[in-house]
Amino acid sequence: MPNLIEITREGRVALVRLNRPAQLNALNLALAEELVAATEALAADRSVGAMVLTGSDKAFAAGADIAEMADKSAEDMVERDFFAIWDRFAAARIPKIAAVNGYALGGGCEVVMMCDFAIAGEGARFGQPEVRLGVIAGMGGTQRMTRLIGRSLAMDLHLTGRTMRADEALRAGLVARVVPDAEVVSTAMAAAAEIAAHSRAAVRLAREAVAKAEELPLGEGVRYERALFHRLFGTKDQREGMAAFLEKRPARFHEPDEAAERGA
Ligand code: HXC
Repeated sequence: MPNLIEITREGRVALVRLNRPAQLNALNLALAEELVAATEALAADRSVGAMVLTGSDKAFAAGADIAEMADKSAEDMVERDFFAIWDRFAAARIPKIAAVNGYALGGGCEVVMMCDFAIAGEGARFGQPEVRLGVIAGMGGTQRMTRLIGRSLAMDLHLTGRTMRADEALRAGLVARVVPDAEVVSTAMAAAAEIAAHSRAAVRLAREAVAKAEELPLGEGVRYERALFHRLFGTKDQREGMAAFLEKRPARFHEPDEAAERGA
């Protein structure tokens, strides 16, 4: 059985490519299991500082696998807690950038929103067309999209099932950047390399703090951020980052990792 994802490494960045091109990367359970296991392994690997998730030129992912779901009963869905596995992808403690070309529909769009941010090609298309299949989003789409782009546009997309172009997705805040299609992966890899060069602890806590903004009231969120900020003053990366600034030299955050990689 061919791998449903492909992983390549460039320095401290992992490029993960969804690999079911004949099905437009439809997200079946086997693919989800492979992707979650790989993402958790990358998150635990101190030599990896960020990952880029991408698909093919035609599709990032055209949704959950409709053929796999079509015959399921409500009991099957509840019993297997269908799609709960994706919570582990979202929760994995590694910066994730979605690099999107082509269709990101249904579950594909929901996976984009599970990533920390997305870089899209001009030809990318986003949507939540589940309503046209007689169902609704099941991987967090109604919740994450409403928080990301607001109630009105989220309702529009989830109720009509229409597809949104990349320029509209950028205006709405669903994606962070739009670039020519051919530059999507290289732009995402460059952003990931920048993240991966920073302090691992600072990046982790920045992700946690921003993510908490979706859950906490402002006052609590500000206090939460401040506690994380204080905690970073116990790290050698804080010493190194500030000393490097004062000494007018680049910070060296990853020397111990590199020494470990050389077997030192
Ligand atoms: C299974 C899929 C698929 C999907 C595409 N394919 N999307 N298989 N699940 N989500 C398969 C097609 O059956 C076809 O297989 C092959 O991929 C190529 O697709 P075509 O339709 O021939 O391509 P094209 O005409 O270019 O149209 C592209 C498309 C269309 C507009 C993206 O494929 C499409 O509408 N797909 C479904 C999008 C969708 O509804 N996604 C939401 C799924 S539900 P064959 O074997 O014929 O070549 C979801 C969450 C559900 O994500 C939550 C419920 C609980």
